[in-house]
Order: sequence, then C-alpha cells, then structure tokens
Amino acid sequence: MVLHWEDYERVAREAIDEGCVLLKNDGVLPLLDDEKQDVRLSVFGRISEYYYRSGSGSGGLVNVHKSVGIMDALEEDSAVQVDRELREIYLKWCEENPVDMGTGWASEPLSQPEMPIDEEIVAGAASRSDAALIVVGRYAGEDRDCTDEPGAYQLLPEEVDLIQKVTANFEKSILVINAGFVIDLSHECIDQCDAILYAWQGGMLGGYGVSDVILGRVNPSGRLTDTIAKNISDYPSNENFGDVVKNYYKEDIYVGYRYFSCGEDDKVRYPFGFGLSYTSFDISEATLKVENLKDDIEIQCKVKNTGERAGKQVVQCYVKAPQGKLGKPARALIGYAKTEEIAPGQEEMVHITVDPYVFASYDETGVSGYESSYVHEAGEYVFYIGENAIDNRKFGVFCNKETTLVEKLRQELAPIEEFQRIKPVLVDGIFSGWTRENVPTGEPEDTKKRWERAEKLTEIAYTGDKGIKLDDVADGKNSIDEFIGQMSDEDLACIARGEGMGSPLVTPGTASAYGGMNAHMRELGIPCGCCSDGPSGMRIDSGSYAFSLPCGTMLACTFNDELVEKLYGYLGMEMLTKHVDNILGPGVNIHRHPLNGRNFEYFSEDPLVSGKMAAAIYRGLHKYGVTGTIKHFAANNQEKRRYDIDSVISERAVREIYLRPYEIAVKQGGADSVMTSYGKLNGGWTAGRFELNTRVLREEWGFKGIVMTDWAASISEQCGEPSKNNLHVMIGAGNNIYMVFSKAEINSNHDTTVEEIEKGGITRAELQNNAREILLQLMDMPAFKRQRGEIDSVEIQGRVTEDEDLDWEDVQYYTLGDYLKIDLSDKSTDKGASVSIGLETEKTGLYKIVFNYVSDLGPLAQTPVTIFSQNMPRGVVTFFGTEGKHESVEKTVNIVSRYSVDRFKFMQSGVKLDSIELELIESISHEFTVGDTEESDKPVESDYVFV
Ligand code: BGC
Repeated sequence: MVLHWEDYERVAREAIDEGCVLLKNDGVLPLLDDEKQDVRLSVFGRISEYYYRSGSGSGGLVNVHKSVGIMDALEEDSAVQVDRELREIYLKWCEENPVDMGTGWASEPLSQPEMPIDEEIVAGAASRSDAALIVVGRYAGEDRDCTDEPGAYQLLPEEVDLIQKVTANFEKSILVINAGFVIDLSHECIDQCDAILYAWQGGMLGGYGVSDVILGRVNPSGRLTDTIAKNISDYPSNENFGDVVKNYYKEDIYVGYRYFSCGEDDKVRYPFGFGLSYTSFDISEATLKVENLKDDIEIQCKVKNTGERAGKQVVQCYVKAPQGKLGKPARALIGYAKTEEIAPGQEEMVHITVDPYVFASYDETGVSGYESSYVHEAGEYVFYIGENAIDNRKFGVFCNKETTLVEKLRQELAPIEEFQRIKPVLVDGIFSGWTRENVPTGEPEDTKKRWERAEKLTEIAYTGDKGIKLDDVADGKNSIDEFIGQMSDEDLACIARGEGMGSPLVTPGTASAYGGMNAHMRELGIPCGCCSDGPSGMRIDSGSYAFSLPCGTMLACTFNDELVEKLYGYLGMEMLTKHVDNILGPGVNIHRHPLNGRNFEYFSEDPLVSGKMAAAIYRGLHKYGVTGTIKHFAANNQEKRRYDIDSVISERAVREIYLRPYEIAVKQGGADSVMTSYGKLNGGWTAGRFELNTRVLREEWGFKGIVMTDWAASISEQCGEPSKNNLHVMIGAGNNIYMVFSKAEINSNHDTTVEEIEKGGITRAELQNNAREILLQLMDMPAFKRQRGEIDSVEIQGRVTEDEDLDWEDVQYYTLGDYLKIDLSDKSTDKGASVSIGLETEKTGLYKIVFNYVSDLGPLAQTPVTIFSQNMPRGVVTFFGTEGKHESVEKTVNIVSRYSVDRFKFMQSGVKLDSIELELIESISHEFTVGDTEESDKPVESDYVFV
C-alpha cells in the first residue's frame, strides 16, 4: 500500500481551510478578487513569525519534518507582497527576544511578550501597504490551564496598543487568532478591526488556513463549536471552574449555548454555530417528517447560494423541547450537515436524519413517571433550522401527547453529596431567569455492584500450557477460553500492565505497549499492541517524523464529518508505517469553560458535535485497521489538580452532556479503546469506577474493547483511598490496563493483584474476563495481523524532507547496567547521518559517557555532533581532527528514564565513531517505579523525562 503524502497534505489543508472561522468582515475580505490580483500586506505580531501548531503537553509533541506558519504561507503565495521593512523589524526583535518555551513540561508561557511598536513604524507600513494583518497567539495545554489574565485569556497591554495603532493607521486591518481555545474578545480595540479570523491551531500546515481564507483562495465555511460570550463571567460554569478539591457542576445541563438560549442571548458575542462566508445562502423549503418520537426524524431543506462566490454552508437543526417537569434548554442541536460547494445561484437539497434519542431527557427521580430513564416529556417539540444557535427559525412542531419512555436504565454515577443546580424559570412561556433545585443523590454503591457482577462470572479452570496459540483462536481451532485457561495468575496480572513510555517491545519512543507483556505470553502468541499519543498526529519521542494535524477544536469547526473521516484515514495509513496500533485520542470532553488547558484537544461545548467528530475519526482509522482511544473518561474539564479533583455532577448532566460524546463514539463509531481520566467522578477515581467502565460503557452502550488508565493515574473504590498499586480494584471495575509500568514483566510498580486473589480482593474469573477483553481487542489490531502476515506494509511516497526520517525499525536496544560499550564501527557518520540507539537503563544516575572516535582531519578541524535524547536536543559534542589516530571525548550525563532513544546527528562529515561507553558514576535510585508517592501533586513523570 502506498501513502501518497501530497494527498495527505491536500486533505489536511482542506480541513484547515474549513476549520478557520471568520467572525467579522466589514467588506475587507477577501483581499484578492477578479479585479485585484495582488496585495501588499503588513504583518504585525510576533506570532506571525512563530505559529502555535497545537497546544502543549502530550497532545502537542508531534515531531514534524516541516512546519508552515502564517508568514511562511503568505510568503509562499506569489500574489502577496509582505512588507519587508516591517518584517525586518520583527525579525530583528524576535532574534533578540527569542520565543520562550519554558523549562520543561507544562512550564511553557501562555503567550509570548509582544514587540512594543512606535506609531511611526505603523504609519510607515500603512503608507506602503493595502492591508494589515495582526496575529495574536495563545498556548495552553495539558497540566496548564489558561488563566483570566493579560497575556492569557485577555490581551496584553502591548497587544492592545498594537491593535489600536494598526486600526488607526490602516484602512483594512485583519485580526487573526492562533489559539486552540476561545479567548476574550471584549476589549474595544477588537471592535476596531475590520475583520477577525479565528485560525485555531492547525498543525504543521496551519498557516495555509490563514492565507487561503484572507486571500480568498477558499471561501470560509468554518463555524464555531463554542459560544464566545461577551465576558468570561457570562459562562455559567465560571463560578464553579478551577476549584482545587471539588468542582460542582451547578450549571448542570445548561452548558454553553444551552444556557444562553434560555433568555441570556444578550451575553453572547458570537453564538455557537456562527461563522461568515464570502457569499450568502438562503435556507428554504424546510420540511420535517416526524410521526412519533421513536423512529428517526427526517429533515430536508434547500440551500441556495444567493451570493457571488461558490461556498459551503452548514445547516443546523435545533429543538426546543417542552419544559415539562424536568426543565430543558431553549435550543439543543439535534443534527447538522455541511453542503458541498455550491456555485452562485445554485442549490442543494440537504437531508438530515435525527434519532430522537439525542434530545431525550434523563429523569433521575421519576417525576416524569419514569425513574432513572430517558423520556420525552409530553408537550410541544419545536424544531428550528438555521445558521447558528441564535439565527434559526421554527420550521416544524411535534406534539407529544403524553410523556413517553425512551429507555429504562438504572441509577448509575449519581452524586453522593447534596448540592444545587440551576433550572430555567418560565413566565408565560418566556425564559425569565433561573431557580435552583437540589440535585438528586444516590448511595455509593459502586463496589457493591462490582461484586454482584463478579459473582456471576465463571472461572475457567487453569490447564497450564497446552500449546494453544492465539493464532489457533483466530483460526477457529480453539476457543478464547481454552486459550485463557493456559494463563497463570502471574500472566493474568501481567496482562493488565501496560509498559512505557518508550517500551522496547514496540515502536521506540511511543507511549506504551500492552498485551504480550511477558515472555510466556509472547510464546503463546500474544502480540504487543503499540499506543502513541495523540490526538493530533503521532507523538514519537525517538525523533521519527509524523504528520501534525489540526487540533480537535479546529477539526470540529469544519462541521464536516466526511472530511475528518478522510483525514484520519490518512493518519491510519501513516500509523501503519510506524507500527502504531492505537493513537491516544480523540479527546472528547466538553468545553465546559474556555480556560480548560486541553480544550484544544477536545471538540466543542456541544455533545453531539463532539460525538459525531469522534465517530468520524474512528471510521477513518478503522478503514486501515488501526484505532484510537477516546479520552479522558470522563469529565476532565480542568487541568488544575486533574490528578485528584472530584467532579461532582448530576446524573442527568453526566449522561446528557459529559458522557454523550463517548456514547456516540461507541455506538456510531465503533470506538474500541477508552482512557479513563486522572480525577474523580462523584466520589471515586474513574479508573476504579465500575458504574462508569462496566455498567454504562459496556452493559448500556455495548462497548467491546479495552479501557486503560491515564499515565500513572490513581485508582480507588468509590469513597476509597487512592493507590497506584491496587490494580485489582481497577480490573474489578472494568478498567483493563494500568498505564504504565516501566517494566511489566518484573512488576516494576509492585501491583498486588496476585496476592489479592488469595485475599479475596479479586476473583480469578474477573482476571480472566479482563484478559479476554484485552485479547479480543488485540486480535483486531495490526500488531496481531502483522504477526500472522496478514497486513500489507505501507510505503510513504512524495514526502519531501531535508532530513531523512529516522529508521525506527533499526533502533537497537541495549541494557545499561553499571557499564556498557556499544560498537558503532559499522554505522555511517557522514554529514546529515544519524545514529540512534535505544537504552534500557537499570539504574538512574550520573554516567560517564565516552565517545571513541577517529578523524582523518587536522587538529584544528571541528566536527559538531548534536545529541538528542527522546528527540530533545541535549547538547553538541565537538570532535577535533585526530589525523587518523583513535581518541576519546568524555562527558557526563544524567539518566533518569528507564527507556530512551538517543540519537547522534552528524552535522559535518569527517569523524568516525568507533564506539561509545557508558559507566555509572553515581546511582540515584535502584529501581523504577511510577508515582508511588501519594503526596505528590502529580504523577512522577521522571520515569519518562530525560534530563
Ligand atoms: C495524558 C494523556 C496522554 C498520556 C500519555 C497523560 O499525562 O493525560 O492524555 O495520552 O499522558 O502521554
């Protein structure tokens, strides 16, 4: 199979173009048209010379072979003359004030200082240009929420000053925002801009989105997946966001536009679903076919392009359900569709099918007549069609004569403490404020439920090794249970341990291996599945290249499921080239509040859009047999204290809002891998929550696949004490795999599973059931098919790079004890070559590293070699010429990771490495464990951080 890189880039660029959202256009855009074929542009803002491809943390660490920022894209377009004089000023300033990316994990600043600018410079640029572009960038991410401060959610004073000067001097000024989340647009200087483009974080080709849209190479068709409120305090979650112990979800189901629709529209600057085009559309002849609220509803309408440019429109359908006893928002999105490109004067018929389940309400107490059930309450269901959550019109009504039961469920995940939630008040049918009501609570029954199930599971008798291989199961010769009968207690415990980061059992530099974690299991033919971060492209810390895709929010803003599916099909193929089975994404939590650091990875404030995007991603990945992991299950809606924060949420809001994207991904996308969150949900760490991982996920939704913890997460029973060793609680709950052990086979993290069988903490049947779930998922993975010779290899064609990609299959691992010598005499060390070695280090500590080399050059000749570890440059060693004599250079290095891939990149020819030697000088700790210090604020990441 061939992966044509140009096609991959083309589809990514389409997604970037369609994900940009044009918020304002006072007639200045597009800059080019039939009459105007070129443009002189002054580009302001230091981020124009940098570009944030994504947010920070694990979702942003894709190692790219090229990156096209906004300036690169503009310079590439021959119709644009970027003002050189201004650019030189910025370049000089940027050189003197380099981008500060912090001192390591989660320390990156949320923005970069902006260059102060004189009025004369701006006026001078204005006299030479037709228009000005001002780029503002923001960067939050994992472990790093944004803050409501200047340089974060708010503009910096220098940015305000810049915008004021530019808008005063230019006739056309365009503001571009390069951020993965919504920032404050309330400053009056922003109103002075003639156009505003939300360009998000578009991955390695993201700059093209800006040039394509502003020049008019494409007609923008992105739509907001979040409401941009006038003020941060207008978001209903604002009062409750950011607590360090407990986060009460008092706004309940009234998240984002669901809240604003209830009489609060005046707080909205740009509504959910909003986005401008260079043409206009008319949505007409909308029809609604609804006979009952059981069967699918059919919606149809005609979209006509009434303007002068070809373009795409997004049709959005909303429902206003009757208030009934439960209370409802005035709008809930029930379906959307994006048209093809429609030529001026042309029309397209749009069809949308809606399963009425999407707008059923969950009744916790039975006030509707049905307890713990989804219902459609009696009354009028008014259907709206239109362009966004505010601009839409009524096009149909259905009267539900009596409250109907949609699905009878059981109470799961209810909060166990009292608090109040909001509920709209209607006076004469008009939304007139809010009241508060007590949230229904439940008993902490999670553990009890777990044991009820455990007792029903049947134990398979242990047979010892009968020579049955996993292949025999795949070939139908033996049953999976016969296979599992051969697994010892130690095997059953070990299969629940993932290994990483950078396990040598899988592609070097990836997040984890799972499955065949000990020699016996590998003998039985259990493969090792390979997970890499995610979500926007593969994170491979060895230095191997990967495609960095647009961030989740940007993808969702395309409202184009087919395009997203297509793009992830390419990613699927690319994953096959690196033997990655499972990408750790998409992230599908809800944008509950604009300051959540990981909003860039997630899609939207709306569960339907989030779920449909995730389902599209799965369809794309599954086409090539690989998969993804929806995360972080569930309600990881702030990064602050994400390791132990308790999200306290009503069961209704959990189900209707926070679990819904997962549910859609499972039911419509066939999601087969889930990552639980770090934190707690209603009183228990999610990794130990039976109700979440078994009752709801597997029993209600029919999920088939694996559930893994987040990396070094805590586990507890509901109301129990957290621990990282109690894997029996995790397994009992239905969370199959603990991520990650530094070495699964030797039980590096000291899990107590085997002892717990004796103590009655877990049954063997539970362990066998756990193994079965993992094995069945793995048998579907390329790792297994590759082992069976059932998978084609994929070759990348057409990727133009200056440097060769690392040949990751060539990375050989060596075990580093007190001393190690690696012979490198057969490796090429010519200019541009890289030599990579994988190290499995037994002891952390300070090492002496000796490079033995020879050079034919004279004694003054210098040959620099850059040293990377985990793809981070760690320094340069300069070798002097030795006139043919064998010499050594000695350094010291601190090694704190069990696994690392170290790469020596030869910047010049002239030196030949014979070997390297590593010798322990001082050991820091003899053993690797992940996060067994309970008091720590966050998991111990030293296991995978190389300093
Ligand atoms: C993140 C996950 C990520 C994992 C592996 C965790 O810290 O929360 O999203 O997949 O690390 O890098």
